[in-house]
Amino acid sequence: MSRLTDLIAQAKAKDQALGQELEREFKVLSSRRSFGLNFERHLPESVELPGRPVRKGDKVRILPSRGSTAKGDQRLWKVLKLETVNGKKTAQVDLLDAAEPEQQQVAAADLIVVAEFMDYIYPGLVSTGKVERGGDKPFHTVINGENFHAVEALTFTHRGKIDMIYVDPPYNTGAKDWKYNNDYVESEDLYRHSKWLAMIERRLKVARELLNPKDSILVVTIDEKEYLRLGLLLEQTFPEARMQMVSVSINPAAVARAGFFGRSDEYYFFLMFGAAGVKPTPLSEEWITTKGRTHKGDIRWDLLRKSGSSPTRDGHPETFYPFFISSDGKKFHSVGEPIGVGANRKDTMPPKGTIAVWPIRKNGTEGRWRLKPSTAREVLKAGCLRIGELKGQSTPIYYLAEGERQKIEDGTYDVIGKREDGSVITSTLESTERVTVPGTQWRIGSHDATQYGTRLLLKLLPDRRFPFPKSLFAVEDVLRLFLVGKRDALVLDFFAGSGTTAHAVMRINKQDGGRRQSILVTNNEVAADEQAKLRKGNLRPGDAEWEKWGICDYITKPRIEAAITGKTPDGEDIEGDYKFTDEFPMAEGFEENAEFFTLTYETPVAVSHNRAFERIAALLWMRAGSEGRRIQKLPVKGWEVADTYGLLIDLDKAAPFCKAAGAKRTIRIAYIVTDDERRFQSVARRLPEAIEPIRLYESYLTNFRFSMGR
Ligand SMILES: C[S@@+](CC[C@H](N)C(=O)[O-])C[C@H]1O[C@@H](n2cnc3c(N)ncnc32)[C@H](O)[C@@H]1O
Repeated sequence: MSRLTDLIAQAKAKDQALGQELEREFKVLSSRRSFGLNFERHLPESVELPGRPVRKGDKVRILPSRGSTAKGDQRLWKVLKLETVNGKKTAQVDLLDAAEPEQQQVAAADLIVVAEFMDYIYPGLVSTGKVERGGDKPFHTVINGENFHAVEALTFTHRGKIDMIYVDPPYNTGAKDWKYNNDYVESEDLYRHSKWLAMIERRLKVARELLNPKDSILVVTIDEKEYLRLGLLLEQTFPEARMQMVSVSINPAAVARAGFFGRSDEYYFFLMFGAAGVKPTPLSEEWITTKGRTHKGDIRWDLLRKSGSSPTRDGHPETFYPFFISSDGKKFHSVGEPIGVGANRKDTMPPKGTIAVWPIRKNGTEGRWRLKPSTAREVLKAGCLRIGELKGQSTPIYYLAEGERQKIEDGTYDVIGKREDGSVITSTLESTERVTVPGTQWRIGSHDATQYGTRLLLKLLPDRRFPFPKSLFAVEDVLRLFLVGKRDALVLDFFAGSGTTAHAVMRINKQDGGRRQSILVTNNEVAADEQAKLRKGNLRPGDAEWEKWGICDYITKPRIEAAITGKTPDGEDIEGDYKFTDEFPMAEGFEENAEFFTLTYETPVAVSHNRAFERIAALLWMRAGSEGRRIQKLPVKGWEVADTYGLLIDLDKAAPFCKAAGAKRTIRIAYIVTDDERRFQSVARRLPEAIEPIRLYESYLTNFRFSMGR
């Protein structure tokens, strides 16, 4: 037994609770890695739920009086009793984790409910509006709520189904850009990094359940404040992913600070899962490396002789062999075999009428080819080897590397003829666009966040300000690089801010007729300076007059509505045109659908089946694809079939239900409500194979009980 465990045992003997607490902390410390990222997990994380009615058993904080800008009492209380005293709803509250017991009688209106992440939650969704211009297309959804809980709820609707998660979290700048446990994390906070890491890690761990492990991408954007720690965190959290970091110039003018380099870029981490990878994509000339010979219109022939690292024959006998070409240097005859270690090339006899060409370096020493003879023969057969200017045995041989050969296959270049040596002659690209895979440095004018983030947003929502939206076109490029060809892709952004991601998904849908869908989550935070003003005006979070200034209600939803309708919130046509890949007036809008929801926190106690069902109705619809009609109320006849799913609540009506569901080709899911597993199985067997049967408990909310923060 180590000295520490011995001491813990002694502490336990004296004070059981203290000993156990010490033991728990010791276990946490000893399970830490010796290498990698070590940080305090800051448990538990909590979030205030403005507007949520206070119920018996809730955890609450007592709010400062109206008009006060004080931070207020941060202690947590439990509601023991609710009663009406002199016509006013009053709560008896008991201090949690108190050294000395303490109770108070408080007006219920002065309490705010707090959810700790280890608590069970019963999420619901309430629709707060929709925009429909997309016919039968699936709906983009926007959820106003705490993202940890919203993503938990999505584990029911979208487990393993998301194609791309794109998140742009608060960058932890110290400038009141995010809150931990209801407190802004400022630059002098000694725990600012670990709080941020704990916050991000907790959300990424839940979000990983949503990614399709066979083929999906996670993109996380960040700047210099946290990129080092975030990189390690991502590596530790997703060891199975292939990860790359790209540097993106978002401010060509560079922000100057005395003594520092001008800051002009930020970083995107790309994590690729399963088969996912960057797709060759049509990109403008700006993306193409201008240095030297690459991609400036003609296909690129490379020298077959190896340069760079290990360019010599030593240690690589398999790539030292001759090419036999006609003595006039016009035609290939054949590809020879490696002559082996120590053999003298002068002992090789070329076939009659040919000369042997070797990989001789400029300094006269023996080099090696980039390809083995078997591959060289295949490449020669495909017309992708070419003879350079005749220089005897040092005549240069050129080849098309795999990436260039691919461009012939995918039609970027056409073969328009052949040279005498059998090599292909290819077309020259006229357009300024190239199908290509970019490098890891992006200096693209359209990614300028001021021009195409802030200013573009102002066109959609004149007079409304959102701090640091991404350039619409930068997000669009990220999506295109992975989702070209994936026209039904599902994209999730749970730090959605102004909603750029949904807007970009709509852009790429328009470009290729896609039906991609975005799911956005953002809270309804009011900016720090605005909060102080509202508090002085006697308002509090939860008041309608406060909430209307929150990000989700004031920016995200109106932005998406404006993008789709082509009109500002005042009903004016949006001025200006979209630029770059697809140029058209913004006033044209998009033929897309979107629905807005608010995340609710339900209690399974004393809720009628009807009300409980209404709260989960949207989750059932989302799991079936967020498409078509939603079953919003419990069907009186015992079953109902909508466009993409059906619901059976009276199992005696299984026969007509299965018949109706089977008759509709678009049905994907049958929700069968029963507490009896055998009855569920018997109905499930009667459904066609294409329909997924899902059992729901009769007490609807218990199907959606989550606590992943434990
Ligand atoms: C950096 S912004 C994202 C900006 C966005 N990419 C854009 O282009 O507009 C991060 C957003 O996440 C939201 N957010 C921060 N913490 C959150 C949380 N715990 N739950 C939900 N949203 C959160 C903030 O309100 C903020 O708007």
